[in-house]
Amino acid sequence: MISRWKRAARGVAFVLSAVALAAPATADEGSRGRELYGFCRQCHMDNGAGNPLYLAPNIAGLPEWYVARQLDKFHSGIRGTNFDDVAGMRMRPVGIWLEKESDRKAVAAYVASLPIVEPAPTLVGGDPERGKALYAPCSACHGPDAKGMEALGAPALDHQDDWYLLTQLEHFKSGIRGSKPQDVQGAQMRPMAMLLADEQAMKDVIAYIMTLGGAPKTAKE
Ligand code: HEC
Ligand code: HEC
Repeated sequence: MISRWKRAARGVAFVLSAVALAAPATADEGSRGRELYGFCRQCHMDNGAGNPLYLAPNIAGLPEWYVARQLDKFHSGIRGTNFDDVAGMRMRPVGIWLEKESDRKAVAAYVASLPIVEPAPTLVGGDPERGKALYAPCSACHGPDAKGMEALGAPALDHQDDWYLLTQLEHFKSGIRGSKPQDVQGAQMRPMAMLLADEQAMKDVIAYIMTLGGAPKTAKE
């Protein structure tokens, strides 16, 4: 398993290094973080809004501590190493490629500096009223307005893509995310996803979370 991983990862790392050589940072291009973000663009786009076609979520303006922690997890293999995790496995080679902790921090700071982009809703059939009740236990960690709480390691959810929230809840529930013994924060979140009985409950809570950001309230049918 591990060697399969390493082979797959090396392929992508090579492509990324080739890009690095082809696109040297110019003096006025600013920080190391900005330079490193050059590789993230292909999936998360210039503004960090992500692209559902690549399963890449909206990361614009996520807090630096959260982004750095996720990059550490993708680096060490705490996240993105489950073979059922198609999306996580796309991000994992990037984590491997970001070898230095200082680089992971630098690019996290750059991501955090990107202005927030309101996501366009894509899910239909969620009931925000039911979702409001289901969200009550979530607010203990993610905050009543889903702005997140650093002390508890819980990220903001209020500007996140609905389709991505749904996959992550499914992944926490099934153990694709958050079940590695070293994943302290994942262990906090997993039982919460298990509280959501089925996909409808997940859609309901997401519909409520979507009302907390500045996004339009319902998806086009
Ligand atoms: C090949 C496409 C690709 C590239 C390049 C890429 N990502 Fe990702 N990224 C993804 C995908 C797909 C996910 C979703 C993983 C999941 O669903 O678990 C992701 C997830 C993330 C997350 C987790 C977001 C969250 O809310 O937990 C962060 C942070 C992130 N990427 C940052 C970066 C940074 C910084 C770079 C550049 C150094 C980068 N990504 C480059 C595809 C990519
Ligand atoms: C005990 C604290 C706690 C509670 C309660 C909690 N969460 Fe979380 N949640 C976390 C932590 C910590 C993380 C970050 C996990 C990590 O670092 O990988 C997280 C991550 C998430 C993510 C992934 C976000 C991303 O950008 O990838 C989603 C979605 C989420 N929580 C939704 C919920 C919902 C919905 C509820 C209520 C049903 C809930 N959480 C309740 C602690 C909590």
